Amino acid sequence: MQVTLVQGDITAQQVDAVVNAANSSLLGGGGVDGAIHRRGGPAILAACRELRASHYGKGLPTGQAVATVAGDLPARWVIHTVGPVFSPAEDRSHLLASCYRESLRVADELGATSVAFPAISTGIYRWPIDDAARIALGAIRSAPTQVTDLRFVLFTPDAYGVFERTLGTG
Ligand code: APR
Repeated sequence: MQVTLVQGDITAQQVDAVVNAANSSLLGGGGVDGAIHRRGGPAILAACRELRASHYGKGLPTGQAVATVAGDLPARWVIHTVGPVFSPAEDRSHLLASCYRESLRVADELGATSVAFPAISTGIYRWPIDDAARIALGAIRSAPTQVTDLRFVLFTPDAYGVFERTLGTG
């Protein structure tokens, strides 16, 4: 598996699947979620609503992942995953790691071999990005997957630098 870092907007990535940092409602939000729905168009929200009506009546649980069409995005699929909100009082690292592992499992089910991840939970969900980078890289390194092209798409130079240092420290 080749792991690369990209600085930019995840919605522009030419990959099989783009991972969305969603919330349990699957009905959109800000950050990555807002960008994906804005650029991907209404087909994504329609597919999310269908998932809510069929399999996820109570919403997608934290740490789980589910795929939809990608609408007008260059990608073929969007893999929606719900990251944990950071808590200084409770260690939720296993849930953040699960977002990466479950997204890769869904990618394998789709036959997607190239996947772009955002830095899940490091925005509105306030997870410190250095710790999130450590968890993300640890999770993908230990995940059995057919994905051969895995990209982390970082929105800011600071975020890119954190992932670069974490990737470099093995
Ligand atoms: N491309 C790549 N990265 C982005 C983009 C983008 N277009 N927009 C934001 N980011 C970065 C943020 O800078 C942050 O580092 O993605 C990371 C995750 O931030 P959020 O999108 O806020 O996601 P998260 O922290 O997981 O919070 C999820 O936010 O948007 C809502 O509906 C979503 O309730 C959910 C919550």
